[in-house]
Amino acid sequence: MPNPASLLVIFGATGDLAQRMLFPSLYGLEADGLCTPAMRILGTGRTDIDADGFRAQIGDAIRRNVPSGECNEATLQALLDRIDYFAADTNDEASLQQLGERIRVLREGGDVVYHLSTAPRFYAPICEALGRMDLGGPGTRVLLEKPIGHDLASAIAINDGVTRVFDEERVFRVDHYLGKEGVQNLLALRFGNALFEPLWNARHIQHVQITVAETVGVEGRGDYYDHSGAMRDMLQNHMLQLLCLTAMEPPARFEPSAVRNEKIKVLRSLRRIGREDVVTETVAGQYTSGAVDGKVVPGYLEELGRASRTETFVALRAHVDNWRWSGVPFYLRTGKRMPRRSTEIHLQFRAVPHSIFPGALAQPNALTIRLQPEERIELKLMSKTPGLDRSGLKLSEVELDLDMHEEFATFRRRPAYERLYLDAIEGNNTLFVRRDETEAAWEWIDAIFDGWRHANITPRPYPAGTWGPAAAVAMAERHGHSWRD
Ligand code: BG6
Repeated sequence: MPNPASLLVIFGATGDLAQRMLFPSLYGLEADGLCTPAMRILGTGRTDIDADGFRAQIGDAIRRNVPSGECNEATLQALLDRIDYFAADTNDEASLQQLGERIRVLREGGDVVYHLSTAPRFYAPICEALGRMDLGGPGTRVLLEKPIGHDLASAIAINDGVTRVFDEERVFRVDHYLGKEGVQNLLALRFGNALFEPLWNARHIQHVQITVAETVGVEGRGDYYDHSGAMRDMLQNHMLQLLCLTAMEPPARFEPSAVRNEKIKVLRSLRRIGREDVVTETVAGQYTSGAVDGKVVPGYLEELGRASRTETFVALRAHVDNWRWSGVPFYLRTGKRMPRRSTEIHLQFRAVPHSIFPGALAQPNALTIRLQPEERIELKLMSKTPGLDRSGLKLSEVELDLDMHEEFATFRRRPAYERLYLDAIEGNNTLFVRRDETEAAWEWIDAIFDGWRHANITPRPYPAGTWGPAAAVAMAERHGHSWRD
């Protein structure tokens, strides 16, 4: 087991992610005494400010982003005392050399975590520079933000560049969904209970729906988003990870190889959707102006200020071709500017094989694991409708509804990066994505893009504040299924 890191170096430390998520999460770890006393944090970026200026900026960002009741000035000061800043241009060798010297001094021979929160095109060059300076050897690990490339070839190039210096066990690819409590709870639910697993297969489950719906638009990230789109931004990573955790076999242990070996099997069992199937099995959409939460919002093209064929919505019907899931469709859907924020996994069970209640309609059971905005687990069951039933027993659908916030009201809900940082600092990569997973996911997505290009598919318009193009509804309905709205 690696040693806890004595130094965390954040590249891109003045960026938006660092200010909104990374430093506020480090504050959470500080508040709970989870950073080792000697741990130092070095921020680096191109912004030319001194360490005091940087600490002032981080202090403000934490006060803004940590819920007010949870922010304590003494804890904040303790965190700021760990923080240093060094302005460096990763394109400039001399500047990198100076940064390297600073790292060597701060490290004091301990383990180092490098967190690359920069544009992915810098990942390989930064790692190679660290290697040249002899700062990438044993006792160091690197954390990479998504996206790892924009297709399989570019992902391979990044992974090759990074792993020339850091061997795979020391590469931590972030998918922040894996740091979410609700996502880990999916594992607890599946593998901490004997109840569900016997039913978790094609014999009992008719179809699965995974939805990640957002109300936000592209939030000033148009330039990034327009090169990415919903498929690369959400489906290739977050949604396929959710699918893996839902569909995988039970790992023998909750440890890195066991869990990731099971996930990769799912990715490799995904039925390819290529040129022959994209028209029937996928739908791409792009929002036009509309209203979300009672507010009029502009369309994607107006926000972007130019023409674009980038999809802000995608829905598809996937199949995991193995014994457990043979014939069970997995409907995946994600989009910006949907009517409400909702991340959920919905398992629709099969109907009872035979009804003993003539005239009473028994709806099939359903289990919904809601991850956002609130965490709940809902199980739909049939129950007797109260009454004397002289003409036969009547059934009604009822719901067992577990509200995780209420159930664990005294526990603080941890932002995903608290978990991910803690694990990276301690060297546990169970909740990080392995190289083969990223590449298998890209291979699957690339076939869809190839199909879209070949069939000249352009995204269908949908008004902001709706559940996407009607074609997505039709795709499910053709198979007798309907999306949960
Ligand atoms: C990011 C995407 O990875 O996830 C964003 O780049 C998206 O476009 C975000 O908004 C959603 O994350 P969450 O945690 O808000 O569901």
